[in-house]
Amino acid sequence: MRMVIVGFGTVGQNLVRVLQSKEKQLLREFGFRPRIVAAVDRGGAMIDLGGLNLDRVLTVKQTRGSVAQDEKLGRPGVDGKEVIEEVDAEAVLELTPTSIVDGEPGLSHIKAALRSRRHVITTNKAPLAIAMPSLMEMASYNRVTLKFSGTVGGGTPILDFAKKCFNGNRIESIRGIFNGTTNFILTRMAESNISMETALKEAQALGYAEADPSYGIDGVDTACKLVILANWVMGSESSIKDVEIDGIRKVTSEDVKEAERKNSQVKLIGSIEDEIKVQPEPIPRNHPLCVEGALNAVSFKTELLGEVTIVGKGAGGVETASAVLRDIVDVRRILAG
Ligand code: HSE
Repeated sequence: MRMVIVGFGTVGQNLVRVLQSKEKQLLREFGFRPRIVAAVDRGGAMIDLGGLNLDRVLTVKQTRGSVAQDEKLGRPGVDGKEVIEEVDAEAVLELTPTSIVDGEPGLSHIKAALRSRRHVITTNKAPLAIAMPSLMEMASYNRVTLKFSGTVGGGTPILDFAKKCFNGNRIESIRGIFNGTTNFILTRMAESNISMETALKEAQALGYAEADPSYGIDGVDTACKLVILANWVMGSESSIKDVEIDGIRKVTSEDVKEAERKNSQVKLIGSIEDEIKVQPEPIPRNHPLCVEGALNAVSFKTELLGEVTIVGKGAGGVETASAVLRDIVDVRRILAG
């Protein structure tokens, strides 16, 4: 299975490390050996049609800043779209950072890959939050799959859980904590009485925050995830424009303490009920949604089962790489028929 990685930041590099450590397991359990034939970052690409040496890609990236700086295999200045269109591969892993302004460059990468009949795996939320129904249609028209497990919940399989575990039942509403960074910030503010800025720096040092952390703090990251969930699970055809968004920027230390006094914690809650909404809310400490640190927690209110909650790590390079790995295995299953 030949793959092109477009976007070689935290998630991409962690994925390569995971692929290295899982080589034998993938062969033994799923009968395949994934090959990365190209890696692309802002500086250009590194290409080897026979499969890149993964140690070498990581070393070049870490020592020279861009994979394009490899003496033999580097192609400075080449961009993701060119590589997607020119390099023969079964799948494109689109791992560039989210930009909610226009979804680029991820949106163009995903469209180019689908048009070239490549299966696509992405962790980039913005293209889906902006244009999910048309991208799904484009994938189906070109008879390939578009997979996006890592866009919601980091490694925690919230999307699969929601999609596969309630067959015959009906999800009536969804409420949850979808952003690890803000949950970490709110938790640290409550436990150590530190400012939002200090807590954000800690979150960045731990690799939870986006390239642009305001997406988390202003609720945009949660809104993107709600749109993906609503479209994928509730049959909605919504986009980010349909979400009412209020982030945690105005939450003060006093709000956090006031909630504590009432045995609650302030959480940034994303909900899909009659409306799709993001807002800070006090959650009672004994409620399953009241999780700490960078954890995500999502409660599904269902017709036959009442409330069911899934909890897990919602951010981080290795965690998100684990979601990409699940998608790779799924694509491989499709390829194998
Ligand atoms: N930065 C996000 C978060 C993870 O803090 O939850 C990626 O969506």
